[in-house]
Amino acid sequence: MCGICGYIGSSNGVKEVVRGLKILEYRGYDSCGVAFVENGKIDIVKTVGEVDNLKKLTKNMSANVVIGHTRWATHGGVNERNAHPHLSTSGKLAMVHNGIIENYKELKEEFNLNSLSNTDSEVFLNLIDCEKGTLINKVINASKKVQGTFAVLVLGSDGEMVLGKCESPLYLSKVENEVYIASDVLALKGENYFALNDHEFASVKNRKIIFYNKNGEKITKKSEKIEKNSDFSKIFYKTHMESEILETKDVLNKTLKKYKEENIFQNIKLPKKLNSISLIACGTAYHASLMGAEFFKKVGVDARAYLASEFRYGRELLNKNTLYIFVSQSGETADTIASAKMVKERNLPMLALTNMENCLLNRICENVLPTFAGREIAVASTKAYSCQVWSLYLFSLILANKSLPKEDFVKNFAFVNYDDKLVKEVASYKKVFFVGRDLDYITAMEASLKLKEISYINCFAIASGELKHGTLALIDSDAVVIAICTQEKIKSKLKSNLEEIKARGGKVIVVSQFDDFKDFSCVKLSKFDELFMPIVSVIPMQFLALKICELFGYNPDKPRNLAKSVTVE
Ligand code: AGP
Repeated sequence: MCGICGYIGSSNGVKEVVRGLKILEYRGYDSCGVAFVENGKIDIVKTVGEVDNLKKLTKNMSANVVIGHTRWATHGGVNERNAHPHLSTSGKLAMVHNGIIENYKELKEEFNLNSLSNTDSEVFLNLIDCEKGTLINKVINASKKVQGTFAVLVLGSDGEMVLGKCESPLYLSKVENEVYIASDVLALKGENYFALNDHEFASVKNRKIIFYNKNGEKITKKSEKIEKNSDFSKIFYKTHMESEILETKDVLNKTLKKYKEENIFQNIKLPKKLNSISLIACGTAYHASLMGAEFFKKVGVDARAYLASEFRYGRELLNKNTLYIFVSQSGETADTIASAKMVKERNLPMLALTNMENCLLNRICENVLPTFAGREIAVASTKAYSCQVWSLYLFSLILANKSLPKEDFVKNFAFVNYDDKLVKEVASYKKVFFVGRDLDYITAMEASLKLKEISYINCFAIASGELKHGTLALIDSDAVVIAICTQEKIKSKLKSNLEEIKARGGKVIVVSQFDDFKDFSCVKLSKFDELFMPIVSVIPMQFLALKICELFGYNPDKPRNLAKSVTVE
């Protein structure tokens, strides 16, 4: 979380950095700022809110050496004071930071750092300023004292920049005499980029980049090709979220096509003897993992999904006959990364299922199954989720030695929207529940996450068979229950559950391809193979969340308190 940007060159760096921050806004958008050097002095401009505010504030400013930041608050409230960049007490250094310094209180006391150092980032900055030697030595030495995660970009009043990282991402590119620095390759310019590894540092002075290891020794680094995603600026709709839901069909097709053309499954390294599959992920990617586990079980491979935040501290017995699949749209999520590192340390078979080609998770796992959902900007994951489910479904076919579907498989997949009357009705209820059984229960979980994430309605998902074991007590005329039913074998069971809800005054809406629910309000789905139905049924649930969010006047792309990449624990 938090986006970092830097520029050294002959163009207007303020404009360049603000441009980069706008691209990085998905990483946090509660406050932002830039720092630049003018006549040997560091100037800082900060504001609460989105990068557009900063753009207005800096529109007449110009500088050649600039750093910037867009924040997702961890330590310290959302206000201009806590926004980055921070200036050291001596006024000689400015810094932007992404990550969390866990021992900042101890450091503040131990090194008697100024009482103005309120946040973990300010403590880190003043610690750097207290160190002796050149700026690169100061940063390297101070970073040895901190515990936690960081990507930092430090600006000296002489125009030198030093950057370093531990866990949080940081990249650089050089275009002739201009140097770009950013938390995401997407915000860089040029054809090639350098990725800093953990505990690597770089100094950029007079437009020259020198790389260092943690011992302060110079190192050489190879650049990699930037694969820019052309989808990024392609917004045809009011919001990214709407545009991304509507891209689902295309990206499913693209993913299937790529898998076939590039023999991607054939290149996956499996354990010599595959006994089971563990899928590890967070949030929506966890729901995709739950779905994946069901697909694998259906073809006879024992499988289980874990929340990465639990897996990393759990007592799972890891073994060499299990394939550990780490599922993540961004490939940056802190808990997923930590879990992957844990498995890597034991040298066990692992696979990254990610949507971002250059991400950290791919570097850790090496064995990669990509999804081709294209850049997803909206915080609420939609097309990337569908692609993850699709990809895991296709992988299960491969493990069962079945052939992949024909390329036009998803052609008839009709988008089902919610009619506005139904949307208003759902939005008017105090209590919203999503129910389902089997695969539909997983879709219910995803539907509930989507709705709470962007509409702030307190809702939850429950396996419909569990209603009688407690939750039925909450059902009355203030409750609406959205039931998903796409699996033939559970149809009649679910129907009885819904009658029980109706009998207690709850409103029931059924999302299904079956004609058996005529007594209830219905959202009719197109008919497909049952294993594909989770992808069909999640679309109206995504639209429902989007429409309620818009009805309430919120921005679905930037829900409060959240960020697209959760790079802190
Ligand atoms: C989805 O709508 C959420 N924004 C969130 O749950 C997300 O899926 C989760 O943070 C995991 O992200 P990742 O896929 O990038 O690892």
